[in-house]
Amino acid sequence: MESRQVFPVPQAFGSRAHITAERYEALYRESVQDPEGFWSRQAKELLSWKEPWSKVLTWDFKGPTIRWFEGGKINVSENCLDRHLEHRGSKPAIIWEGNEPGETRTVSYRELHEQVCATAALLRSLGVRKGDRVAIYLPMIPEAAVAMLACARIGAIHTVVFAGFSAEALRDRINDCGCAVLFTANEGLRGPKAIPLKETADEALAECPSIRHVLVVRRTAATVAMTPGRDLWYDEALAALGGAGDSRPESVDAEDPLFILYTSGSTGKPKGVLHTTGGYLLQVTMTHRYVFDLREEDVYCCAADVGWVTGHSYVVYGPLSNGATTVMFESVPTYPDAGRYWEMVERHRISIFYTAPTAIRALAKEGDEFVTRHDRSSLRLLGTVGEPINPDAWLWYHHVVGEARCPIVDTWWQTETGGVLISPLPGATPTKPGSATKPLFGVQPVLVDDEGREISGNGVRGRLCIKFPWPGMMRTVYGDHERFRQTYFSMYPGLYFTGDGCRRDEDGYYWITGRVDDVLNVAGHRLGTAELESAIVRSGLVAEAAVVGIPHEIKGQGIGAFCVLRGDVAADASTTKGIVQAVREVISPIAAPDSIWFVSGLPKTRSGKVMRRILRKVGEGEYDSVGDVTTLADPSVVSEIIQAVRASRA
Ligand code: WTA
Repeated sequence: MESRQVFPVPQAFGSRAHITAERYEALYRESVQDPEGFWSRQAKELLSWKEPWSKVLTWDFKGPTIRWFEGGKINVSENCLDRHLEHRGSKPAIIWEGNEPGETRTVSYRELHEQVCATAALLRSLGVRKGDRVAIYLPMIPEAAVAMLACARIGAIHTVVFAGFSAEALRDRINDCGCAVLFTANEGLRGPKAIPLKETADEALAECPSIRHVLVVRRTAATVAMTPGRDLWYDEALAALGGAGDSRPESVDAEDPLFILYTSGSTGKPKGVLHTTGGYLLQVTMTHRYVFDLREEDVYCCAADVGWVTGHSYVVYGPLSNGATTVMFESVPTYPDAGRYWEMVERHRISIFYTAPTAIRALAKEGDEFVTRHDRSSLRLLGTVGEPINPDAWLWYHHVVGEARCPIVDTWWQTETGGVLISPLPGATPTKPGSATKPLFGVQPVLVDDEGREISGNGVRGRLCIKFPWPGMMRTVYGDHERFRQTYFSMYPGLYFTGDGCRRDEDGYYWITGRVDDVLNVAGHRLGTAELESAIVRSGLVAEAAVVGIPHEIKGQGIGAFCVLRGDVAADASTTKGIVQAVREVISPIAAPDSIWFVSGLPKTRSGKVMRRILRKVGEGEYDSVGDVTTLADPSVVSEIIQAVRASRA
């Protein structure tokens, strides 16, 4: 249910904040009327450039072509490190909280700079050059940030692969962009479990001809197989170089690529979202500063993993570019118990805390005691990201975690957008539980109907598009510009289509209602139905599968799979297990289906297209509103499907 409550801007923010309500209005107006003027001023104020740009913006959404700050030279690692050395050399850049409570490491800006320089020199000594691709498959340890920044320093393009992904998923990503070097660790630790990262990497590398070297970080005492000539212990390789080598920051063009990050779409394999240097860094620097109303003394913690875009933009690049102290968390919110986040807040005196609704829901279920037994007086601002937050979870976060003092910024954005596009500003925007509220500077959202007509006015709903470029937007799908055009710009010509449904209320506030395409958002993780279905079929047990999102109390969306078994396969528990196992191996444990239903056929049109609308309705338990089934080749499958789902939930 929608909450009608409005939470005003707290006094503590209103007057002191970077952006007050009046300033928001004025700056937003300017950013839309004179985008080039607005963004070039921000770029000069917030970043250090080696050489100025010759043209602020070149764009067309047909090609599509998007270029920001063309001709400008800039180095991301210098902006995140070198420029802070004079005044912030001894300030903590990273506070690392390891898997076990109290296992921590603090890395100052000076130390981080040294490590990044040493690693940059090491990469160069291994022959990595500007434009080369480097894969990073690491746990949440400072070395992950070091590896990213070292790539940025020499102009190499990193692609971080979430350490929970399988060997196959890692292999496909490495091969899609032809990585020359891989960073991994002997093992990762997540709660009570050790994750055999090097072993998984070896399995992947059996089919990755482009990889020349593997740098292995020693996270635990575990010994692992090392392939001579290819694999190097990271610590030994650094020691061997002994601080020698070339660590100078490469002069990088604003439009040179910074990273590729794979994400799921409605069709086919995950695509390599490519971000470039100047515009991306500006977007994350500005949004991190204003959305979190950053102050010099803040201890900021984003609990996301660097394997996702949130970790890129708001654990590493945004905070470090702003000279902030960023807390990096290796473990999970329920280890050793559901009070871990708040115990960590107490111990590190965290002032800004940013996490996902799925974690909030999971923790709320465990009871308030886990929160209230820890001192949260250091907190002043809370944030959420990744999926719509239901008002109940929002209110719990606000009242119980934030003691009703801390505003909540519900930040809407995507891997593709690079940084937050729609969010409250804590000193400017009254909040409503469940609404991402208003567009940030330079963001021009529009709602369109099914035919692509713009829906004007307030109190309306439609599909969310953006009609003007912003500096941090993705530039292409790596190696497949046509897919970029198709996916985002062909549905509604002249507009960038987000894939999300959205409502704009009477006050002009935006409420994201979730994906309207075949992308699922499971516990804040993006998964495509096509890749899930193909993984299920790979089990060898299933002839055909269709996957839909189903309501899930904690994850927001769960995965429901309708499976037509192969002729001789029994519809029993061991088949279910086999299917789940296949998905874990092909993609990741995070993609394991929550419900599997065996059916004799899928609802298809006479031309053979699966009618997902029907499956979605059934999966949502709306058995009586599946709609018109007369166009199906065999309408009788519908009642069988309803029965299967009903029986499983009885
Ligand atoms: C969803 C994560 C509602 C949305 C940064 C989007 C949200 C997808 C919110 C992108 C939010 C993200 N409210 N929905 N505050 N933030 N989403 O690429 O459906 O992993 O399209 O980026 O998450 O997921 P991605």
